[in-house]
Amino acid sequence: MPRSVIAGIGKYIPKNTVTNQDLTKYMDTSDEWIQERTGIQERHYAERTGETTATMGAAAAREAIDRAGITPQDIDFIVFATLSPDYYFPGCGVLVQRELKMKEIGALDIRNQCSGFVYALSVADQFIKTGMYKNILVIGSEKHSFGLDFSTRGRNISVIFGDGAGAIVLQPTEDDNRGLLSTHLHSDGNNAEILAMFNPGTHANHWTAAPLADFNDAEIGDMFMSHAMIDKAQNFPNMDGPTVFKIAVEKFPAVILEALEQNGYQPADLKILIPHQANLRISQFVQKKLRLGDDQVYNNIQHYGNTTAASVPIALCEAWEKGKIQEGDLVCLAAFGSGFTWASALLKW
Ligand code: UT7
Repeated sequence: MPRSVIAGIGKYIPKNTVTNQDLTKYMDTSDEWIQERTGIQERHYAERTGETTATMGAAAAREAIDRAGITPQDIDFIVFATLSPDYYFPGCGVLVQRELKMKEIGALDIRNQCSGFVYALSVADQFIKTGMYKNILVIGSEKHSFGLDFSTRGRNISVIFGDGAGAIVLQPTEDDNRGLLSTHLHSDGNNAEILAMFNPGTHANHWTAAPLADFNDAEIGDMFMSHAMIDKAQNFPNMDGPTVFKIAVEKFPAVILEALEQNGYQPADLKILIPHQANLRISQFVQKKLRLGDDQVYNNIQHYGNTTAASVPIALCEAWEKGKIQEGDLVCLAAFGSGFTWASALLKW
């Protein structure tokens, strides 16, 4: 059975840099608080119009495709991970298919938030291993800046998130010394509401509570996005940060060890761990717990913030561009986030 190998990798970071100091214009926060609690110094925001999750994903994809030495016409499947799609539906995969003028290939969107890219990679890996596809484009992209609560009410979340995209081209290899060794996916829906954006969503039953004929036009207008919904910030992400932190520092090491153990490795064997960039303090905790050296963990949250589904491919791409990953190196990708979902992937570059 062939293994999947990353044949090309790319990223797209929007030009507009937003410092912690910039955020103090909108909310009661400080550079000191943000750096101390999260490690973040700055993040990037996409253009307000014209630059979307799909266009950023397509830009990262172009780079990955070029570096793989192929053309968009060679791609035979797209897996796109995001929590901030251009439209509620359809997903972003089809928008990339259109923008890059690809053939009428399949396009799948993955909704697994921070672990979305690792989930997407795992899905793509199955298609490669079965021989169904030969060039799969896997993208993680987010435009968080479009929908954050920039008032003091939302400060525990808004200061964390940034925009950006990363992408890879996955291909089969028969080389036993390279490729994706295993992926590990987990979830626990008991904590689904701890980190969530509630609306618009069918749980609220705002416009299906009764046949529309029972309502007059004014009531129907109110139902689509009620003031109560907006007053309770349910159209923005909500998070109980300390609870997420507590569970993240338990699940991250566990899922990394699961990947290493399944393949007969120890933490010391890792060339580099690419953790989802949720919080520098979480990465430092994981590093300490697994007794990894500073050069064994890659962090770039300082400059990008948390870019959710994009954070792992952006960090992987940057680490590779800096020469920190060479052919044959043992690399672990790991993520934890809303759902809760968490995941890891172990690969030989
Ligand atoms: O990638 C998705 C998964 N997400 C995560 O992994 C996030 C995990 N959680 C975290 O990273 C941290 O919990 C946060 C960075 C979100 C928050 O840090 P914390 O140390 O857990 O702070 P806290 O929420 O316990 O809040 C401490 C204080 C509160 O004030 P009081 O009640 O002590 O007076 C907050 O209101 O800090 C206040 N606070 C802020 N102050 C200044 C919250 N956000 C801010 C802010 N600026 N941006």
